[in-house]
Amino acid sequence: MPMQQVVVLLWLVLVVAPAAIAVAAPPAQKGQMLFCPRMCGNVRIPYPFGIGDKKCAWSPGFALSCNRSFSPPRPYYSNMEVMNISLERGEMLVYSPVVYACFNSSNTTESEPLYLQLNMTGTPFLVAPERNELTATGCDTMALLGGRDDGSLLTGCITTCASLKEAAHDDEPCTGQGCCQMSSIPHNLSIITMSWDKGRTTTSNVAWTYSPCNYAFVSQRGWYKFSRQDLRRRAASKSFEFTNHTGVPTVLDWAIRTTNGICLSSGARGALAPACVSTNSYCVNATNGDGYLCNCSKGYTGNPYHNSGCTS
Ligand SMILES: *[C@@H]1O[C@H](CO)[C@@H](O)[C@H](O)[C@H]1NC(C)=O
Ligand SMILES: *[C@@H]1O[C@H](CO)[C@@H](O)[C@H](O)[C@H]1NC(C)=O
Ligand SMILES: *[C@@H]1O[C@H](CO)[C@@H](O)[C@H](O)[C@H]1NC(C)=O
Ligand SMILES: *[C@@H]1O[C@H](CO)[C@@H](O)[C@H](O)[C@H]1NC(C)=O
Ligand SMILES: *[C@@H]1O[C@H](CO)[C@@H](O)[C@H](O)[C@H]1NC(C)=O
Ligand SMILES: *[C@@H]1O[C@H](CO)[C@@H](O)[C@H](O)[C@H]1NC(C)=O
Ligand SMILES: *[C@@H]1O[C@H](CO)[C@@H](O)[C@H](O)[C@H]1NC(C)=O
Ligand SMILES: *[C@@H]1O[C@H](CO)[C@@H](O)[C@H](O)[C@H]1NC(C)=O
Ligand SMILES: *[C@@H]1O[C@H](CO)[C@@H](O)[C@H](O)[C@H]1NC(C)=O
Repeated sequence: MPMQQVVVLLWLVLVVAPAAIAVAAPPAQKGQMLFCPRMCGNVRIPYPFGIGDKKCAWSPGFALSCNRSFSPPRPYYSNMEVMNISLERGEMLVYSPVVYACFNSSNTTESEPLYLQLNMTGTPFLVAPERNELTATGCDTMALLGGRDDGSLLTGCITTCASLKEAAHDDEPCTGQGCCQMSSIPHNLSIITMSWDKGRTTTSNVAWTYSPCNYAFVSQRGWYKFSRQDLRRRAASKSFEFTNHTGVPTVLDWAIRTTNGICLSSGARGALAPACVSTNSYCVNATNGDGYLCNCSKGYTGNPYHNSGCTS
């Protein structure tokens, strides 16, 4: 077996301090100090997230870093660049890599095919199921999406085309002719892997003369629009990506996971849902995985994770 080139995201494992259910509310000013920066470049970092000093975040799992060697600076979660954070939706948009396998003959690849493992075990994040889709492009491609710690999830999609003319036209849906898509991702996934069918996509490509590279990525639903030009791409990297950024936008769901409280059916904030500190706020169960989010009561807006954060 040839050596695999694997991109591992989140190899820095964040240690989330175990805490019992029904812990006392954390110190009132925790993470809300005035000196905590709330912007990194153009990206807003609202509490429970925080930059740098872990005291600025609700828990170590919400701590980001701000890399100031870029202009403007860019926020990172471990080794993953963050694009945007939404409190209302409980989402974080990140840049995740495109994997590829590029052929220079029907049975040889230019470099080792690229694989990806995204492992968010022990973090507050899960892959958002309905907000993402798996896309693969190519004319002799079988892309696989795996998941879970024991590898018990395996799915994927296939795309073929006998010539460029038989591929879909630009902006047409990905139905397996030049590109294929899986329009949602299973729930409650903290680990995903993206790879290629070994018996086929990594060892041969009958379409290599007109479509040398196979690409696959998990991106925000609706973001990718097919272009025949993408089949002709030869570059191993910097494909599909935003200018100056590495990767495609992927939506992660976050929540205050259950070691930090529970959300009663009344939605009452307080000792059992200690993250919902603002008056005029309530808790809502997470829709993906365990845990809860906070929201401002009807008629109020703002940050429910802040003291007096919800205002009318
Ligand atoms: C910031 O990004 C640059 C360029 O990718 C990298 O070389 C550097 O190690 C990063 N700095 C930190 C503190 O992560
Ligand atoms: C970031 O999220 C906010 C709120 O959800 C939204 O208004 C804004 O357009 C987003 N920005 C980007 C660059 O996606
Ligand atoms: C919070 O309330 C707003 C307005 O009612 C709603 O749009 C939003 O989906 C709610 N957020 C959550 C996480 O339930
Ligand atoms: C690749 O194909 C060529 C020509 O068909 C053949 O000679 C060669 O043995 C093949 N190589 C491998 C590694 O299968
Ligand atoms: C394909 O690329 C590999 C790695 O660069 C190289 O060793 C091989 O000779 C190339 N094969 C062809 C047919 O160009
Ligand atoms: C994912 O990360 C967790 C925590 O570091 C580790 O225990 C687990 O083995 C990793 N899973 C895989 C499939 O690499
Ligand atoms: C990309 O980065 C270069 C160098 O940092 C900068 O000059 C250029 O304006 C950036 N382009 C965009 C579109 O941000
Ligand atoms: C949240 O889920 C728990 C456990 O499933 C349930 O008992 C509780 O009623 C739910 N809370 C809300 C606000 O739906
Ligand atoms: C999510 O998956 C984990 C194991 O990865 C499991 O322990 C947990 O019960 C699952 N939660 C839900 C709500 O399905």
